[in-house]
Amino acid sequence: MISRRGFSLARRHVPLALRAACLALLGLGGCNEPTGLELTAEAIASCPGEEATETQTQAGATMLPGRVCGACHRSGGQAQNSPWTLAGTIYSDGSAKCNSPGQAGVTIQVLYTADDPMGRYRKNDVQPGGTLTSNEAGNFYSTGFFVTPLRIRVFTGPSDQPTKEMYMTTLVGLDPVTKQSVRVDCNTCHNTTTPRVYL
Ligand code: HEC
Ligand code: HEC
Repeated sequence: MISRRGFSLARRHVPLALRAACLALLGLGGCNEPTGLELTAEAIASCPGEEATETQTQAGATMLPGRVCGACHRSGGQAQNSPWTLAGTIYSDGSAKCNSPGQAGVTIQVLYTADDPMGRYRKNDVQPGGTLTSNEAGNFYSTGFFVTPLRIRVFTGPSDQPTKEMYMTTLVGLDPVTKQSVRVDCNTCHNTTTPRVYL
């Protein structure tokens, strides 16, 4: 069972021994601990100086905009039942704060960066499952598996005649050292040093 409850900062002080007992008694996932921001310095660090609001800490699609979703949504994380392969938040301004209003209805597309040697797809085609739409918090996320590295396009309006459109030059999703595909958390890079993802 996946817990859909909100979680609160107040839970941070539950003693470890008690958590362990709780997990042992109820089994993983049957227990509501630990489910808080307390274990995710990474999530907090992606929005320096900003407290998440009560609403933002309700687990679900509009939760914690601007934060590094994969701090929790990954194997071994608090939300390991929903491990996003790609996730982020889009704003209407690159200097937006995490808690600024996100932008809904923007299309985020994951494109191939090379032709398939077997001829099944071409460079810049959209990958299967690679069209996402930002929700009312500006959030978007996917559990899809993509061919890396990825090229990213964001736009509004029709695909062939976008109202606004941007491409990221940097290719993502492939670790340059290990050559392994890795989780793409847009909010890891797009926070204080690189402008927020915006359109
Ligand atoms: C501090 C940890 C944390 C962060 C950061 C976080 N989440 Fe969550 N999220 C959870 C927990 C815990 C749940 C509930 C358990 C679960 O669904 O795995 C959850 C649930 C969800 C769900 C419901 C999943 C389902 O299967 O119904 C969605 C959608 C979601 N989060 C999206 C996001 C997005 C998008 C981001 C980033 C903008 C994000 N979350 C950031 C902890 C987090
Ligand atoms: C590894 C760090 C990193 C990740 C991860 C990342 N980006 Fe970027 N992004 C950058 C950098 C650096 C730039 C500026 C240079 C460029 O265009 O590549 C950028 C630029 C962009 C631009 C163009 C902005 C402009 O003003 O032209 C868009 C759009 C964008 N990113 C969207 C995304 C989305 C959506 C994701 C997640 C799917 C993402 N990025 C993930 C580092 C990253």
